[in-house]
Amino acid sequence: MPLKDCRIIELPKLTDVRGNLTFVEGQNHVPFDIRRVYYLYDVPGGADRGEHAHYKLEQFIVSMSGSFDVLLSDGVEEKRFHLNRSYYGLYVCPMMWRYLDNFSSGAVCLVLASEPYDEADYIRDKDTYLELVNP
Ligand code: TYD
Repeated sequence: MPLKDCRIIELPKLTDVRGNLTFVEGQNHVPFDIRRVYYLYDVPGGADRGEHAHYKLEQFIVSMSGSFDVLLSDGVEEKRFHLNRSYYGLYVCPMMWRYLDNFSSGAVCLVLASEPYDEADYIRDKDTYLELVNP
């Protein structure tokens, strides 16, 4: 899948004086079944996460609190996305190299994923990744 298929998806937002409500349904708001949820929190200032790609995994990344950046690359082009609202997120297609940085203090990064955790689905070496995408 090309980098242009990775995109910001805006979620429903029900505004209410009692507090807002947002929801996400698999195969509706995100284009996959949600089989795993994980989150990054207590990220120390200056730390970065990611730096890998996945063969098959699709993900949807939301900033539940605070802000951070996601840098996506397909091995040729790269794009930086700033996430700072809980009513939109970034759809990340398979085979994208990702790097997360610029975490604000108190940032919480929620990730909805299409598969359970599987280390065999990771490409952790950048040169191996570049050979796979630019043979
Ligand atoms: P990793 O995906 O490399 O973190 P990040 O991309 O956010 O920097 O995962 C870090 C560690 O956590 C790694 O040892 C695998 C483990 N892990 C799980 O056991 N289950 C999971 O669902 C995830 C996302 C990671």
